[in-house]
Amino acid sequence: MDKLNVAIVGCGRISVSYADAFRKLKKYVNVCYAVDTDLKKAQEFAAPFNCNYTTDTDEIFNKGIDAVHLCLPHYLHPVIAIKAMKAGIHVLVEKPIAITLQEADEMLRVQKETGVKLGVIFQTRYTKSVKVLKELVQSGKMGKILGARSYLTWNRPYSYYEGSDWKGTWDKEGGGVLIDQAIHSIDRVRYILGSDAEWIEGSIHNYCHEEIKVEDAAEAVIKFKNGCIYNLYACNLYSDNSPVTIEIFGENGRAGLIQDLGFIEKDGMYTEIRSAYEEVSVGPNYWGSSHHIQLKDFYLSVLNDAPVKVDGIEGKKTLEIIKGIYKSSQEKKRICLPFNDVKITEIKK
Ligand SMILES: NC(=O)c1ccc[n+]([C@@H]2O[C@H](COP(=O)([O-])OP(=O)(O)OC[C@H]3O[C@@H](n4cnc5c(N)ncnc54)[C@H](O)[C@@H]3O)[C@@H](O)[C@H]2O)c1
Repeated sequence: MDKLNVAIVGCGRISVSYADAFRKLKKYVNVCYAVDTDLKKAQEFAAPFNCNYTTDTDEIFNKGIDAVHLCLPHYLHPVIAIKAMKAGIHVLVEKPIAITLQEADEMLRVQKETGVKLGVIFQTRYTKSVKVLKELVQSGKMGKILGARSYLTWNRPYSYYEGSDWKGTWDKEGGGVLIDQAIHSIDRVRYILGSDAEWIEGSIHNYCHEEIKVEDAAEAVIKFKNGCIYNLYACNLYSDNSPVTIEIFGENGRAGLIQDLGFIEKDGMYTEIRSAYEEVSVGPNYWGSSHHIQLKDFYLSVLNDAPVKVDGIEGKKTLEIIKGIYKSSQEKKRICLPFNDVKITEIKK
């Protein structure tokens, strides 16, 4: 097999990044199906690829599809991923892997049982600056890593939520700014550190979005097994989508990111890792332009039967930090890993 037959399930906002990636990766894929419960969206996605479209995901399961991309409301990720894996189809699911740790575990179990590949989209790992930062930290040149911080202050107005039947809800989105937006910062910090979380303490708040029940702000401290203390702040009540900042602080200096622009500081001298964006993002700038790089990586794992770099286990580890913050906030205590998940219906004051 030198090309994969792929389908996309969910042709909403993020699907433009997939259309762009499919065009760039013609050498690896035949786009065979676009699926959306909204027929018009499926039809519109399918048109430029001249492929099939349907409103019923079950229709694609015995049509020779090798891999499926899931771009769905969060609570549907495990439901459709498990069906697809059981049908022998490789799955690349958008973040988050799921909204509960139990569902993520079930996805991992089915992946193991079926032997298909399961990947989770964290495209912001796939930039030059993140690659350089990871290599720098892992090389030991920064010395012992003592601290990390990430700061995300974005804007999601009421209109963002009112047009959606799942965003802003605990049962369908699984949370707010943490599980939807700051998930990429948390994932990058965890990936660059190359260490697992040991304990988590934090709190979530809803300051400015009375019309929804999920958090619009969060702060947390996460202790990693390598000793690093990670401090995070995230909100989507700011007046603009400011560049996300991430910093890693080691005995021998600091390095970090301002959005995709990387920097290394030693003795007060700053070196730029790369300049701004490699390519113009097809969506909002903060989505970046790396979906096609991660998709290619996933396709090569399938074609060469090689391990998936951002696999289900990676997806679960990042989700676990988010769920740890939620649990810590609800129970007002430090949460040590592993822990039993918590179901939230509203934020405890
Ligand atoms: N990686 C990123 O940077 C990034 C950015 C934006 C969104 N996302 C993720 O992409 C996913 C989708 O987000 P979005 O903003 O595109 O949402 P959206 O609401 O715009 O799109 C979801 C689509 O799924 C369709 N759908 C709902 N139920 C369905 C079902 N049972 N079968 C088939 N289609 C169904 C809806 O009709 C809708 O078109 C989420 O996981 C989100 O977190 C990722």
